[in-house]
Amino acid sequence: MVSREIVKDVFWVGALDFDRRLFDELIPLPDGTSYNSYLIRGSEKTALIDTVDPAKEEELIVNLIKLGIEQIDYIIINHAEQDHAGSLPMVLEMYPRAKVVTNEKCRDLLVALLQIQKESVMVIKDGETLSLGNKTVKFLLTPWTHWPETQLTFLVEDRILFPCDLFGFHQATSELYITNEAEAYRSAKRYYAEIMMPFRNSIKGYIPKIRDLDPVMIAPSHGPINKNPKFMLDAYEDWVSDSVKNVVVLPYVSMHGSTQILVNHLVGALIQRGVEVRPFNLTKTDIGELAYALVDAATVVIGTPTVLFGPHPQVVYATYLANALKSKMRFASVIGSYGWGGKATETIVKMLDHVKVEVIEPVVIKGLPDEAAVVAINRLADDIAKKHTEIGIL
Ligand code: FEO
Repeated sequence: MVSREIVKDVFWVGALDFDRRLFDELIPLPDGTSYNSYLIRGSEKTALIDTVDPAKEEELIVNLIKLGIEQIDYIIINHAEQDHAGSLPMVLEMYPRAKVVTNEKCRDLLVALLQIQKESVMVIKDGETLSLGNKTVKFLLTPWTHWPETQLTFLVEDRILFPCDLFGFHQATSELYITNEAEAYRSAKRYYAEIMMPFRNSIKGYIPKIRDLDPVMIAPSHGPINKNPKFMLDAYEDWVSDSVKNVVVLPYVSMHGSTQILVNHLVGALIQRGVEVRPFNLTKTDIGELAYALVDAATVVIGTPTVLFGPHPQVVYATYLANALKSKMRFASVIGSYGWGGKATETIVKMLDHVKVEVIEPVVIKGLPDEAAVVAINRLADDIAKKHTEIGIL
């Protein structure tokens, strides 16, 4: 790999991972990812911001050696997760005089996860600054910009924000900067859905503080650098807001075709009523795309057959994720069929305990859908359109 200078004496020294296809053994990565590490060479001190995933630690070390970095004074750790802090033990071996700089919670996690010596950590507080000579870094503690210990680092003189996970996205690209904002928007929204959405209320509170810093560049720890911070801040402000769109997300599984008939009919009925609908056949869908659709959808309708007296296990998985991601959905319902009974609807509704939804009367039928089922689906589509009208999105 190769390091690159962003502004004078500030370098990208991270690693690109073009081949990685799964993150946290959960999140699909269609475009790979990067682990961005940055080096700031001040007139008196040198600081490294975050490291890289341990699988790529050699690339970080080679970048530092090629840059001729003989001493690092501070290793600033914005986040203890292994994809950013995992190479810290190796970097400390290479640069034993370096002090790790982070907040107290992050220090404790570094000790627990990476067995870093507590004494090697310099603990900073919210708003504190650290001088590197002609450059100054300022720290903002921002719990839950993924984990509870996360923080941001701001390079005052160059007005570059290093927010680690926040504002990034998973993409391995040889481009150092975002070159296509439409593509970046899509990737960033998907990343937000998968990583940040459960913490939207925390993030909402940080955005004005970040705007006050007036950064000219956002250099996250995943994906290319953003030279138009307003673009990303505006997008986040929309995603974390309470406003929802006139959209129904419809994740479903159909075993023998009955649920599929209901889904097809509901899709048509919603289109007729002017409601946008995004069906996801869970046996084929990329779970990241489902998360993306959940960001601002007003309604979720879950389609399931009955298996072993409950919902299909793939539906259970998707419902669990939708609940854990805490999207801002307002309404939910269930459609599906059964052969000899079961509690699919009750199980699904109980699973949605993290989202504050109003449940619209489900449509669960015995066997193959008949005329009465079609009438019931039309009633459900009417109810959804009515709810969307009531909250002013249709
Ligand atoms: Fe990119 Fe929360 O780690």
